[in-house]
Amino acid sequence: MRKRSWAEPFKIKMVEPLRMISAAERAKAAAEAGFNTFLLKSEDVYIDLLTDSGTSAMSDRQWAGMMLGDEAYAGSANYYHLEEVVARHYGYKHLIPTHQGRGAEHILSRLLIKPGDVVPGNMYFTTTRAHQELAGARFVDVICDAAHDPADESPFKGNIDLAKLEALIARVGASRIPYLCMQCCVNMAGGQPISMANIAAVRALCRQHGIKVMLDATRAVENAYFIKDREPGYSNKSVADILLEICSHSDGCTNSAKKDCLVNIGGFLCVNDDELAERARNLVVLFEGLHTYGGLAGRDMEAMAIGITESVQYDHIRARIGQVEYLGALLDRQGVPIVKPVGGHGIFLDAAAFLPHIPRSQFPAQALAAALYVESGVRSMERGTVSAGRDPDTGKNIEPKLELVRLTIPRRVYTQAHMDVTAESVWALFEAPERVVGLAFTFEPTYLRFFQSRFKPVEGDVVLRNA
Ligand code: F0G
Repeated sequence: MRKRSWAEPFKIKMVEPLRMISAAERAKAAAEAGFNTFLLKSEDVYIDLLTDSGTSAMSDRQWAGMMLGDEAYAGSANYYHLEEVVARHYGYKHLIPTHQGRGAEHILSRLLIKPGDVVPGNMYFTTTRAHQELAGARFVDVICDAAHDPADESPFKGNIDLAKLEALIARVGASRIPYLCMQCCVNMAGGQPISMANIAAVRALCRQHGIKVMLDATRAVENAYFIKDREPGYSNKSVADILLEICSHSDGCTNSAKKDCLVNIGGFLCVNDDELAERARNLVVLFEGLHTYGGLAGRDMEAMAIGITESVQYDHIRARIGQVEYLGALLDRQGVPIVKPVGGHGIFLDAAAFLPHIPRSQFPAQALAAALYVESGVRSMERGTVSAGRDPDTGKNIEPKLELVRLTIPRRVYTQAHMDVTAESVWALFEAPERVVGLAFTFEPTYLRFFQSRFKPVEGDVVLRNA
């Protein structure tokens, strides 16, 4: 039987008009934002592919759930509903809600890390590593080498290199490794999944050494879809069952519910250990809110509970990943250098290959993101040297192998026509990349510098010539 196309498993009930300002206004807006797409006003953006975080469209069921918010300070009914749904789909014993993912990362890092510790993981994520470092640990990347090569088409580039992990344990000793952080659909690598075989092998190795495994489950549902699609033996299992199996190989998780879980705000920490849960509940009161709301309104927890049940529906997740793949295919067909295979939450342009005339010291990915905005009103984000920050010992810029621009697709928000326009915008730059000018810092904040830093072009005052 011929394979049928997927289509969005929803129809549109409410619309939010888009606004497109002129090219001259965009050039001015980019300069005012210090050529940092995080500093643009959203009303000046046409198609917003900055992030898939908190940008999902909620369903009518979720909006209806918002009306059922039980805004009691303690013991909200929505908390108990969320607890039940998280246990059903993620399988952990204890739920500690937080205002978003980094709230959970903060609590986890404080709970488990002591100064001088080492936390291995499959590539860093910005907030995750920052909290590990604030708690006194050093992050060590143990992801497979393929993850650092945009052209390597291996199906599971999020996998952990067991030899690297073993070598690290031998070098620093298991007692200095409080846990391993295992990220699903590795964000900074391009949304690349980790295979179930690798997850199980990492778990076995860690267990041998008495090292906990903590999952970053932020995009675990997307990862489950890739396992179903790509890993032998999983095609007949449901995404929900695969998600449970992923989580079963860990001692707990942090989760930014702003992604998979289809809400605009929220997150959670889960653990199986009773004593750890008690300590986490004690800390959450200090930093987030009481343990039955963790910084969230009752209505937010209700929307999250409903969003989780929708997130594991096959039709939803297939269309979500299908849309990302659609954009990827459009770009790939024209020879635009992108990270391959296409990952779960966006298309990552290989800015170093796209702009060979701009040296890494002039932040090609930052320049490309700014130029794309000026060209078309499409907002993307840098995921390269600016995001990587500075080495805590030497103070020098870390130059990661990947110098990327992320076109992140919000869930259930844009149509295929928006993807067509986005692809055309990228092609327009790709036809004459030498129009893009490199950048230099004018302001650099201490923490997570990519959010608030400002730049100027290294020559002239525009990032895109002849715009
Ligand atoms: N872990 C991963 C893998 C993430 O992608 C994020 C957020 C977090 C943790 C932190 O969660 O934002 O809810 O505090 N990623 C967003 C992004 C910011 O745009 O990729 P948060």
